Amino acid sequence: MNLWVKKRPEDLQEASEHTQLRKSLRAVDLAALGIGSVVGTGIFVATGQGAHLAGPGVLLSFIIAAITAGLCALTYSELASMFPVAGSTYSYSYAAFGEVIAWIIGWDLMLEYLVSGSAVASGWSTTFIGLLENLGVKLPRALCLTPLAGGIVDLPAILITLLITWILYLGIRESSITNNIIVVLKVSVIVLFIVLGIGHVNLSNLTPFAPFGWKGIMAGAAIIFFAYIGFDAVSTAAEETINPKKDVPLGLMLCLAVVIVLYVGVAFVLTGLVPFKEIDVGNALPAALARIGIRWGGALVATGGIIGMISTLLITVYGQVRIFMVMARDGLLPEVFSRVHPKHRTPAICTWITGGLTAAIAGFFPLDVIIELCNIGTLFAFVLVSVGVIVLRHTQPQVERKFRTPLVPFTPLVTIGFCLYLMVSLPALTWMRFSAWLAAGLLIYFVYGMNHSKLQNRHLNTR
Ligand code: ALA
Repeated sequence: MNLWVKKRPEDLQEASEHTQLRKSLRAVDLAALGIGSVVGTGIFVATGQGAHLAGPGVLLSFIIAAITAGLCALTYSELASMFPVAGSTYSYSYAAFGEVIAWIIGWDLMLEYLVSGSAVASGWSTTFIGLLENLGVKLPRALCLTPLAGGIVDLPAILITLLITWILYLGIRESSITNNIIVVLKVSVIVLFIVLGIGHVNLSNLTPFAPFGWKGIMAGAAIIFFAYIGFDAVSTAAEETINPKKDVPLGLMLCLAVVIVLYVGVAFVLTGLVPFKEIDVGNALPAALARIGIRWGGALVATGGIIGMISTLLITVYGQVRIFMVMARDGLLPEVFSRVHPKHRTPAICTWITGGLTAAIAGFFPLDVIIELCNIGTLFAFVLVSVGVIVLRHTQPQVERKFRTPLVPFTPLVTIGFCLYLMVSLPALTWMRFSAWLAAGLLIYFVYGMNHSKLQNRHLNTR
């Protein structure tokens, strides 16, 4: 067995050309897919969490997290344009580093997709329950809170996840249209928040700007990074894109540009309206508008947020399903994960398994733990992407890159620096959980994946 067996670029391209999935997406659809995936629970919930850690300096946390995400997008786009296939970083690292690293990345990506899907569902549930309570409807606590928070199960989080799983099961075209409508809605409520609030900003709320110093700002940025996660979901849809080499990088950049402007606007207005200690984490934006007397605006923003988070959940689960599908196609996961439904032409069984796992985590684990784990996993994946860009420039210089990361190796090295800095700003407990997760993944590879890998078997047969 050769743990480091690598895919050739032709293997990846061949998989893409012979896809059974329907090719129907363009750059604008991809940007919408990205915004749909990125703008979700983070801006509505993590903003308040970040502000409590950083004070008004959360504005800087947002900018640092944005720079990190932007750098990641630059390196990511190069790999995405080299290998326009589903499977994201997992597929790229199969070519760059070989099988065992690809597996680790695929396993790690579960933190970015599956676990963050759970975080979004959980944040959706908090916001939804808050809105119902404002309307005078009270659900039983035992069915709204996870066991660690004193309940039995977060039932709304489970139900919303199962609903979007069903939409995904029905097919990509339907999902893409649903997503586009929701994206317009959620961008509108965020713009509404900025427009309604900006005239009421009280600059005295912004001083002292950094009550917890640089450490606080970085701890804030490490949490806020969650709000940017998801832009790479764009490239997980590469196989369903009409012209992936051009459209994937374009879609990524477009998506990120819109998101950065929206987020920095929200952070400025929020911290300008409310002294940071008084920000209501679960209900930050609506409560800020209510504070300045614009209750109708608060209700609109809350409703838009609740609907908006659904599209984040949709794309996140979508991304995870595609990654599982590709891993199964390679033999690293059981074949059932890659089976495509004859009528809907979606990986049906995989979709339901993924949705079920996402729902279970959301139903039983607390939001803050899930967010931290998700961030560390995602940042780790981007570190490897950046290493991959440098390595592949040397090992595969002949492969065409429609998008080239500028100033290699400088840009990837700076990206690695930013990612690692955010990772070390996360708590030690998160590092321990992350290490345990990776160790479990390696064990599964040695017990199952290594023995079922199609690439390993092909190499054995051709010897
Ligand atoms: N970026 C996504 C969100 O904010 C995960 O919900």
